[in-house]
Amino acid sequence: MNNTLSVVVLISGKGSNLQALIDAAKVESYPARISAVISNRDDADGLRRAQDAGIAWKVLSHRDYADRESYDRALMELIDSFNPGLVALAGFMRILSEDFVQHYYGRLLNIHPSLLPKYKGLNTHQRVLDRGERQHGASVHFVTLELDGGPLVLQSQVLVLSGDTAETLAARVLEQEHIIYPQAVKWFAEGRLKLVNGVAMLDSKQMNHGTH
Ligand code: GRF
Repeated sequence: MNNTLSVVVLISGKGSNLQALIDAAKVESYPARISAVISNRDDADGLRRAQDAGIAWKVLSHRDYADRESYDRALMELIDSFNPGLVALAGFMRILSEDFVQHYYGRLLNIHPSLLPKYKGLNTHQRVLDRGERQHGASVHFVTLELDGGPLVLQSQVLVLSGDTAETLAARVLEQEHIIYPQAVKWFAEGRLKLVNGVAMLDSKQMNHGTH
């Protein structure tokens, strides 16, 4: 298909969300394809997933750059060499510079393991347990300058069960991530999902999030 959306996926680790996107894109009718996977770490397991799927992959180590701005400039150049319509962050453990976020504004998605705006940042599962929350989940959002604060696209909830550990909770949240991320990318590729004046719109209607 010629009208499929080209997506570059950025990872730092396991790449299970990358795998979910790879698997979704195996279906012929899926409107996006992954043109490249880029990791800032050469030991990221996700690189093997890209290799196994026959997808181009690159390592661009932040250790080779003096500061965030110069790394992000090189990263932008590398990403743009694949000419993507969408950049999907999938466990990319880097804070992004203002220039980077602005460059990809409206075509940069992230998946976060909490029901944003609750539990921005790291160690979300343990923090949810420590606070005695009954509900937890995952969110896909457009990336803006506020860390984990961009407009929400899709969320999925899980119940916190008695006896849950950070690991068991993370596993159930990940199952949901693997459903909602390919769905959000599909909507974006179909042209149904857009960021308009800082608001996430689906089919020209403001997205409604009643889950938090
Ligand atoms: C996921 O929990 C994602 O929400 C977060 O980082 C984790 C990445 O997992 N941003 P994986 O590398 O996709 O398995």
